[in-house]
Amino acid sequence: MTTGTALLVGGSSEIGMAVLVELLGPPPRRVVLAGRPSGELWRNAELLRDVGYYVTTAQYDATLQAEEIDGLLAHLNADHQLDLAVVAVGSMDEESFTDGLVVNGLAVALLVRALVQRLSAAGCGKLVLISSAAAVRPRQSIAAYSLGKQLADSTAVLLAPQAAKAGVRVLVVRPGFVATRMTEGLQKPPLATTPEKVAWRVALALRGRRTVVWAPAPMALAVRVLRHLPARVLPAQLR
Ligand SMILES: NC(=O)c1ccc[n+]([C@@H]2O[C@H](COP(=O)([O-])OP(=O)(O)OC[C@H]3O[C@@H](n4cnc5c(N)ncnc54)[C@H](OP(=O)(O)O)[C@@H]3O)[C@@H](O)[C@H]2O)c1
Repeated sequence: MTTGTALLVGGSSEIGMAVLVELLGPPPRRVVLAGRPSGELWRNAELLRDVGYYVTTAQYDATLQAEEIDGLLAHLNADHQLDLAVVAVGSMDEESFTDGLVVNGLAVALLVRALVQRLSAAGCGKLVLISSAAAVRPRQSIAAYSLGKQLADSTAVLLAPQAAKAGVRVLVVRPGFVATRMTEGLQKPPLATTPEKVAWRVALALRGRRTVVWAPAPMALAVRVLRHLPARVLPAQLR
């Protein structure tokens, strides 16, 4: 086994798992799924074990940021040479505005910084942050989520050039609407996509040099247009 460890933070995430699977390459390989304990997390671990990866799970709760990052890095310290990190943490359901900001923003920004530092020290590797179109066009109905995403997204974009000098590739992914449990029950808008299609866009983007990829690609233009329209002419769910 020559390839280093792959890490998915948000180990139960549908988009995160699709991206991880697309990027993993053939087994055997060490994989760490980090997240809060859940059936989805165990199921994802089993799926990967069944096809030959060596999978461990690590505790990560974004509401407790600093200590959780230390715990996660300590888990990786044991015997893992990290070379791929996918960060797919996000929630629109936080009970308070503060929690929404911390889980989607501060915790993820600190985590991204810590992982970029870890990869940079090794002089190689990739970090993929699953951000959101909402990072560029915040919406009133999901204000804490949007503002959090802005912080996490900007952190990764700002760190990318320095990381590149250290041999580390940072990719920021901005999906629009993706059909997952996060969007279950919501009406599918035009340009809705799937986790597998997002994963395919990520794999393609990693072959190029851009720091940001939108999923699907026309989302970039759609967001640019929407930003120039006054809120009052838009339907409530787009404001
Ligand atoms: N679906 C979309 O339309 C869409 C669009 C744009 C961007 N995104 C982003 O894509 C990423 C993946 O989302 P998804 O669609 O795959 O939904 P998902 O399956 O619900 O994934 C969200 C992930 O975030 C984790 N998470 C939430 N709160 C957390 C906390 N306090 N501590 C630790 N982990 C926490 C969840 O873990 P638990 O299982 O423990 O809750 C889960 O692993 C997220 O960053 C999301 O914001 C999604």
